[in-house]
Amino acid sequence: MPEHILITEKLSKSFPSGGSELAILHGIDLKVVQGSTCAIVGPSGSGKTTLLGLCAGLDSPTSGEVILAGRKLGGLSEDERAQVRNESVGFVFQNFQLIPTLTALENVLVPLELRGEKTSNAADLAHDLLVDVGLGERVTHFPSQLSGGEQQRVALARAFIGEPAILFADEPTGNLDGESSAMVEEMLFELNKAKETTLVIVTHDRELADKAGMVLVMRDGRIVETTSA
Ligand SMILES: Nc1ncnc2c1ncn2[C@@H]1O[C@H](COP(=O)(O)OP(=O)(O)OP(=O)(O)O)[C@@H](O)[C@H]1O
Ligand SMILES: [Mg+2]
Repeated sequence: MPEHILITEKLSKSFPSGGSELAILHGIDLKVVQGSTCAIVGPSGSGKTTLLGLCAGLDSPTSGEVILAGRKLGGLSEDERAQVRNESVGFVFQNFQLIPTLTALENVLVPLELRGEKTSNAADLAHDLLVDVGLGERVTHFPSQLSGGEQQRVALARAFIGEPAILFADEPTGNLDGESSAMVEEMLFELNKAKETTLVIVTHDRELADKAGMVLVMRDGRIVETTSA
């Protein structure tokens, strides 16, 4: 039996909307094998970001359960969920969410700081990761001084630094040109190979999706198709 690092059971999410409830996700059942790669595709508004946020423990479902790295998130307090995230999860947000008052290098260091693991060589590690994503000349820049694609690559370095067991990436190549996009793809799959990091990637890029071991197609808050390579 393969070990599943992520399981969702009948996961649903609604948002209040003008006095009633607007259902966004409808009973999503999902199993992701540890060390595998999974791409989620589907039209804008189909619920991809919402699903990713629930799976990563950033948000709570209206009903259903997420089991992440062997922990049932539903039974955990906010602090306990944060701890699971710090220990096991990397997240690249669709809108980056870098901290504006920190430099690129300081942003990359945040996950280690949260874990209390900011050792003496942490800055070197962060620097190396920024070099890897092609930003060796931008380490002291603040997010406002970086282009969208550069911010995206800082966000990627930040997600990598803690060597998470599972990495969620929401359109990680969405703001990149062909060359940077190919580099980011290569880094993601290299991370998967080298560290067995499970990847869950939301993307509109069919080429990127086709590299994943499993592709889920979402439509109107449901998974309508699952393809395994
Ligand atoms: N906090 C919220 N309150 C109300 N509605 C929301 C909220 N967050 C998301 N939605 C709605 O849920 C639906 C799904 O949004 P989501 O961001 O998950 O889509 P998506 O598939 O990631 O789209 P995109 O490809 O454009 O990023 C959208 O119709 C959106 O308007
Ligand atoms: Mg989205």
